[in-house]
Amino acid sequence: MKFTVAIDGPAAAGKGTLSKRVAAEFGFAHLDTGLLYRATGARVLDGADPVSAAQNLTPEDLARDDLRTTAVAQAASKAAAIPQVRAALVQFQHDFAGREGGAVLDGRDIGTVICPDAQVKLFVTASDTVRAERRYLELSGKGQDVTREGVFRDLTERDARDREREAAPLAAAQDAVVIDTSHMTIEDAVAAAVAAIRTAL
Ligand code: CDP
Repeated sequence: MKFTVAIDGPAAAGKGTLSKRVAAEFGFAHLDTGLLYRATGARVLDGADPVSAAQNLTPEDLARDDLRTTAVAQAASKAAAIPQVRAALVQFQHDFAGREGGAVLDGRDIGTVICPDAQVKLFVTASDTVRAERRYLELSGKGQDVTREGVFRDLTERDARDREREAAPLAAAQDAVVIDTSHMTIEDAVAAAVAAIRTAL
C-alpha cells in the first residue's frame, strides 16, 4: 500500500513529535525532511558550497550531533532558499514518499511541492511565543547555551525567510487540515491528526 501523510508548518510547531507519533500509530515510515536541509547547512558552516553539499549528502552528514543548533538551523534556512539545493533533495524525498507501507514526511513544502497528491495533508502551527518557549525548553534541556530572546529571533527570522522565498515557500496547501497546537496538548494534536488519517484510510 502506498499512502503519504504530508505534515508542514513553521519552525518548532511540533511537526517532529506529531510525525513520530502518527508514524508509530499506523506503522508508517517517517522522514524529517528538515534534517536534509540542516545537514546541508552544517556542511556550509564547514566551508562547503551549498549546492554541492546538498548533492553529496552522506548518511554521516545526517547523523551529525550538531544539527539541532540555532547556527545550523539558520544556515539550513539560507541554503533552503537556493533552488538548486532544493532540487538536489527532491528525488530522495519522492522515493521515500513512494515506498510501500505508508510514509509520513514533515517539512515546509511537502503538501505543496514534494507530495501534492498526498492522501493526507496537515499544516501544524502555533503562536510565535508558544513555539519559541517549546524550542527554548527543548534546547536548554539538551544543555545548549540558549536564551529565550535568541530562540525567538531564530524562529521568526527563519519563518520570514522560509515564507518569503521564491522556491517552495512555507505555505499551507489549499486542502490541508490546519492544526493550531497553541492551546493543545500533544495528545490532543495526535488525536486530531489520527482522526484525519483514519478518515482518509
Ligand atoms: O525543527 P524546525 O521546525 O525548527 O526546523 P526544520 O524542520 O529542521 O527545518 C530547518 C530549516 O530547513 C527550515 O527553517 C527551512 O528553511 C528548511 N526546510 C525547508 O526549506 N523545507 C523542508 N521541507 C524542510 C526544512
